[in-house]
Formats: sequence, structure tokens, C-alpha cells
Amino acid sequence: MDFDEEEMLPVKVYLENEIETVSLGTKLAQAIQPPLTLYLSGELGAGKTTFSRGLIQSLGHKGAVKSPTYTLVEPYELAGMDIYHFDLYRLSDAEELEFMGIRDYFADTSLCIVEWPDKGAGILPAADLLIDIKYLQQGREVTLTAQTLAGETLLTAAKLAN
Ligand SMILES: Nc1ncnc2c1ncn2[C@@H]1O[C@H](COP(=O)(O)OP(=O)(O)O)[C@@H](O)[C@H]1O
Ligand SMILES: [Mg+2]
Repeated sequence: MDFDEEEMLPVKVYLENEIETVSLGTKLAQAIQPPLTLYLSGELGAGKTTFSRGLIQSLGHKGAVKSPTYTLVEPYELAGMDIYHFDLYRLSDAEELEFMGIRDYFADTSLCIVEWPDKGAGILPAADLLIDIKYLQQGREVTLTAQTLAGETLLTAAKLAN
């Protein structure tokens, strides 16, 4: 089976409140198969970290999920999977990613979740799935767009595909 971008339409999901944002993470968690890279875009406070918390905790992490705003990346070692949660908001130059050895994080056993991926444009490895969160008057609208076969498989397995 090949990935055909034209056949894979973006999926839109309405999230009424914070609980539903966490639940979207839970839904995707059940279908995660590394290696996988997710890009999370949306304004400050849109819910990128909230979604990440739902995803990371559903995958088995017991503690808190902190926003890696100052550390750039927060690692979580789980059975059979390494999760790297990036927040590139404070990155002033994408080149800094080279210095932190960015490619080493994107391994076969990795799930990489990246907030503010635009800041790493040109150097950051490509995404399997784009997740864009928009403010509505009440709640949020999320648009999920597969970029690879792995991303499409994830959406289908999580029962999110159109
Ligand atoms: N679907 C939703 N509707 C309304 N508020 C939400 C929703 N999802 C999350 N929130 C709230 O929005 C804020 C999101 O913060 P955060 O996840 O840190 O955003 P980001 O990482 O995108 O900057 C939190 O205060 C959270 O309670
Ligand atoms: Mg955040």
C-alpha cells in the first residue's frame, strides 16, 4: 500500500474542553507504532501540551508532563518506546538543533512530539502527522493531516480517518 497525499484528506475534530483534548491524546496513544513523528502547531495556549500530556500518560508515563519550553526536549523512557517531547518555541535558530544532535532522537524506537516545529524548519526531520489546534469561541478545532503512510495508518487505527 502506497501513501497518496491526494487521497488522504485532513481530519477535523471539535474539542469542547480540556478533557476532550486529553482524550484525543488517549485515542491516538492506542494506535502509536514507533518510529513516529508528530508536529503540533497552534497559538500559545491552544492545547499542544495538554494533548501531549494525554498522549504521553496514556502510553504509560506515570508522572507529570512538563512543558519543555526551557529545556527544548523532555525524554520519557517507556517499555519498547522512547518518547521525546520537544518545544522549540525558544529556539532562536534552527541550527541549534544540529548542536543538540537532533537526528539521534529520531530513532526506530522513538515517538517524537514537536511543539512549534516551524522554529526548526529546514533541520527538523519531517512529520508523519500534522496536528493543528485552533481557538474557537468555545473549545478548539483540531485538524489532523497525515504526511506519510505511517501517519495515515495511525489515523485509521485510531478511528479518526474520514
Ligand atoms: N478543547 C479545549 N477547550 C478549551 N480550553 C482548552 C481545551 N483544551 C485545552 N484547553 C485549555 O487551554 C490551555 C492549553 O494550554 P497548553 O496545553 O499549555 O497550550 P500550548 O501548549 O498550546 O501552549 C489550558 O489552560 C487548557 O486547560
Ligand atoms: Mg506548550
